[in-house]
Amino acid sequence: MFMPTATGTPGTPGATRVLLLGSGELGKEVAISFQRLGVEVHAADRYANAPAHQVAHAAHTLDMTDPAAVRELIEQVKPQFVVPEIEALATDALADVESAGLADIVPAAKAVQLTMNREGIRRLAAEELGLPTSPYMFAETHEEFVAAVHEVGMPCVVKPVMSSSGKGQSVIREDVDIDQAWEYAVSGGRVAATKVIVEGFIDFDYEITMLTVRSMDAATGEPATWFCEPIGHRQQDGDYVESWQPMPMSQVALDTARSVAARITRALGGRGIFGVELFVRGDDVWFSEVSPRPHDTGLVTLATQRCSEFDLHARAILGLPVDVTLTSPGASAVIYGGCESSAPQYRGLTEAMALPETDVRIFGKPEAHEKRRMGVAVATAEDVDTARERARAAAAAITVS
Ligand SMILES: Nc1ncnc2c1ncn2[C@@H]1O[C@H](COP(=O)(O)OP(=O)(O)O)[C@@H](O)[C@H]1O
Ligand SMILES: [Mg+2]
Repeated sequence: MFMPTATGTPGTPGATRVLLLGSGELGKEVAISFQRLGVEVHAADRYANAPAHQVAHAAHTLDMTDPAAVRELIEQVKPQFVVPEIEALATDALADVESAGLADIVPAAKAVQLTMNREGIRRLAAEELGLPTSPYMFAETHEEFVAAVHEVGMPCVVKPVMSSSGKGQSVIREDVDIDQAWEYAVSGGRVAATKVIVEGFIDFDYEITMLTVRSMDAATGEPATWFCEPIGHRQQDGDYVESWQPMPMSQVALDTARSVAARITRALGGRGIFGVELFVRGDDVWFSEVSPRPHDTGLVTLATQRCSEFDLHARAILGLPVDVTLTSPGASAVIYGGCESSAPQYRGLTEAMALPETDVRIFGKPEAHEKRRMGVAVATAEDVDTARERARAAAAAITVS
């Protein structure tokens, strides 16, 4: 991966340029972090006026699953780094770009290809690296699926291999759930393919995101890995509703979690931040999945860390020193649209910000939908429980219309 020895000036021939593929709320914060370092930021998404578009030097709108369109944009922008923010991309085009030496894909084209498909990352984690995961099987037909459910055992979780944010995902508890789970999974995938994963249900005590950073160690000049304090989170219908940091863990579970995170991120390679999702019960840890990019539950780090996960991503991409210091316990709570609107208005900011140590981020999405994430409330406190109460109260105070 290219390491700039100097950074340039936006808009000049010597600019250090990044192209963000995906311009949602996470991309917006990454864009801001790069802006602060004097990097020229190009932001792409499938629709106009996306959150990161609004803070980038240049905004691009295209179908990012179209290999020719992605290739053409990269040839036009000529970034040193292509920074994916989402999974649904023409990843083969990114691999071609990387092997042609046109740009570096963050963290690596292989990582982006493997993680866009649950099968690739699961086989790498469980079969190549021997990491602990739930038992699992893949199925492509209804018949294979029924056999897989019985082999894995109930309860089990069914997911299309190409999906995110809980789409097409359901839990089978008894025989009567089987057909509905199949129908839901094959209609809920990102692409019109029927491959699903059937995973044994892990009855965890809690789940965490282990934000893991791969950058250069200034002391040794060698690549190194850092871990943020674990982030606890609560998921509802496949979407995170609140997160907090640090999540208290036993020393054994914490050591195991870091070891699993180090092994999966080393296998994916490159530099950047990774969100490693883990399930924990007692001292036992299971690998669930990994995003080779900032993680939505890591929005809490906007309040809790000296460098947010977005700052860390920007620094790591450039090969700069990173600092994962937690400055305070804190929490985040999601602000949903709760309505349909094509010019959303936000009320209640006064009440939200009147809460101690509490802040709000409005993403600026051009349309609100009932379940669309429109903003986030973040709070700090002396303890996580108080921070969670503050963040929840702030999110509840805000209404979108
Ligand atoms: N095997 C499992 N056992 C128990 N809970 C699970 C399992 N797989 C997923 N979940 C729950 O569903 C959530 C979303 O699943 P995940 O695989 O992370 O999908 P997505 O890619 O949509 O985030 C997880 O964070 C966890 O709460
Ligand atoms: Mg997940």
